[in-house]
Amino acid sequence: MKIIFATNNAHKLSEVQAVLGEGFELVTPRMCGVEEDIPETAETLEGNASQKAHYLYEKTGLDCFADDTGLEVEALDGAPGVHSARYATDGHDFAANNRLLLKNLEGKENRRARFRTVISLIEQGEEHLFEGIVEGHIIDHESGEEGFGYDPLFVPEGFDRTFAEMSAEEKNAVSHRGRAVRKLVTYLHAKQQ
Ligand code: IMP
Repeated sequence: MKIIFATNNAHKLSEVQAVLGEGFELVTPRMCGVEEDIPETAETLEGNASQKAHYLYEKTGLDCFADDTGLEVEALDGAPGVHSARYATDGHDFAANNRLLLKNLEGKENRRARFRTVISLIEQGEEHLFEGIVEGHIIDHESGEEGFGYDPLFVPEGFDRTFAEMSAEEKNAVSHRGRAVRKLVTYLHAKQQ
């Protein structure tokens, strides 16, 4: 089954393809002729995922899904949250975001944080939402080379390594996105029967 995933981020694409398995072929917006940045101007993860999925559906008329993820840090009242990509700058500057997060957590004892992903699927014109959460904490220095974004700072509950020190398989098994995508897969498989 072919399905459009609203991302041109190669890391996310391969993470999600690994969880979806061989029964599904992911197609990117670019492959469907959607070259422009897809708008995400909502103030919630749900709103952004939904906005991106509806945008693609209107452009292509095909089944599609979009995700939006935020890192929610307890001591920062849920920041950076929906602003995770542009926390420090206007672009997707992962190193600057990580530096700012460490600075804002300086001196704070509570390092609890979670990643939350929301997926909006538009299937035959109807929207379905799926959520995945992983709890953990933020360490005080970057560690590890794998993954992307805040991975070098985030240690998931039950582990003593950051996401950036895990293989893609290990991360997918517990990650926010892995959990949300598995819910999506369960739904799509049930529909195929
Ligand atoms: P997006 O909505 O998936 O594009 O995520 C927004 C921002 O959250 C990204 O630019 C990253 O900074 C961060 N982020 C999302 N997923 C992850 C992840 O799996 N690990 C680390 N950071 C992530």
